[in-house]
Amino acid sequence: MDQDQFTIKGGRPLIGEVEISGAKNAALGILAASIMSDEDVFVRNLPDVSDVRMLLSAIKGTGATAEQLNEHEVRMNGSSIRNYVVDDYYIRKMRAGYYMLGALLGKYHYAEVAMPGGCTIGSRPIDQHLKGFEALGARTKIENSMVFVEAKELNGAHVFFDSVSVGATINVMMAATFANGRTVLENVAKEPHVVDVANFLNSMGARIKGAGTDKIRIEGVTSLHGSDYTVIPDQIEAGTFMALAAATKGDILVRNVIPKHLECISSKLEEIGCRIRAYDDAVRVTAGESLHPTRIKTLPYPGFPTDMQPQISVVLSLANGTSVVTETIFENRFKYVDELKRMGATITVEGNVAIIKGGSLKGAKTLAPDLRAGAALVIAALAADGESVVGDVHYILRGYEKFKEKLQKLGAAIESGISREAVETVVKNG
Ligand code: EPZ
Repeated sequence: MDQDQFTIKGGRPLIGEVEISGAKNAALGILAASIMSDEDVFVRNLPDVSDVRMLLSAIKGTGATAEQLNEHEVRMNGSSIRNYVVDDYYIRKMRAGYYMLGALLGKYHYAEVAMPGGCTIGSRPIDQHLKGFEALGARTKIENSMVFVEAKELNGAHVFFDSVSVGATINVMMAATFANGRTVLENVAKEPHVVDVANFLNSMGARIKGAGTDKIRIEGVTSLHGSDYTVIPDQIEAGTFMALAAATKGDILVRNVIPKHLECISSKLEEIGCRIRAYDDAVRVTAGESLHPTRIKTLPYPGFPTDMQPQISVVLSLANGTSVVTETIFENRFKYVDELKRMGATITVEGNVAIIKGGSLKGAKTLAPDLRAGAALVIAALAADGESVVGDVHYILRGYEKFKEKLQKLGAAIESGISREAVETVVKNG
């Protein structure tokens, strides 16, 4: 039975509660930064997803301690690092290995890290990361798909990024933590996970101010002490379940969230006709009788997140009317449209704009092209009439902890694999 597929019977409203896990994109930066201390660092509320597991194994490869205390907590300790080369099969498959550049450069003034894998959503260069490192006094080189960074010493600098980059902001912030004197970063990313990494570094004794604003100021320090830190909830996992409620005409209480991080998603879903109720650490999404079309433009935070673009496009493919979705962050993030068309969606893509003519969806066999598009195709299958199979779900498991189980708890007829029994279970539950 091929476990890399989900069999889904759609067409029923999903109702109930879901508990959101820790933020993957905060956890990856925090785990890399944790090795900058030579003392024990406890990181809690980690999402149990493959990207986190892959980064932990790469960090162990440097000789650092990464002791799994349970599925959501680790004890890190960077005092035993002997090797500044990070290069393994997994690191080449994922992006966030590049955070080891900033952490090792900052602490040891040297690092060699495998060039991050190009992703199906775009070329994803790292020129802004290297620009920041060089401004601090490092020499950088890319050779044989390895990135080399080295510095005699790191001195504070004034860096104005040419484009807003989450990764470059986090990476250069780490490298500047130990630089001599003051570093100012401008035109920075302001995502919640950027702020979480800055707060984590400060919990170890870094002196970083302004994360979440347009300007980050860093006063260099000479060492970092231990910490015990809890990762924030995942804004995009939460948004994914909010979109699910809208698409399946359901009613879902999304728990363990920071509502402020979801404001842009909430306001778009209200425009589309959902009722949103925000509580201290939860939001409740109740789908409207019908879904209205709207316009979406992805932007850096606090704008509408690009990582929610496939999911909201599925909701709009069920709306009464024509919507326009503009993707301004990545150059190739509409690959899922062909898969959605197999389910009856009417979407035309011109450059970075998708015109979505709302209607209904019917079950089909689809393949997940990447993490967020995969989650979107599962939402589409749960909203569609009939049975679907979504393949290559390993992409989804990179960033969604216990995705199938969380959906089943909401009443979804979803099973792993496409064996006869999986189909019968789905039909029986259907
Ligand atoms: C992070 O990727 C996230 N990944 C992505 O989430 C997210 O889509 C992205 O930020 C934008 O929010 C992690 O945090 C691990 P960027 P990152 O640097 O840092 C261009 C997910 O689904 N750029 O903000 O790689 C780049 O090509 C993933 O969880 C440069 O040109 O994104 C892109 O077009 C997908 N030069 C844009 O900037 C650079 O040096 C934004 O990229 C860096 C980036």
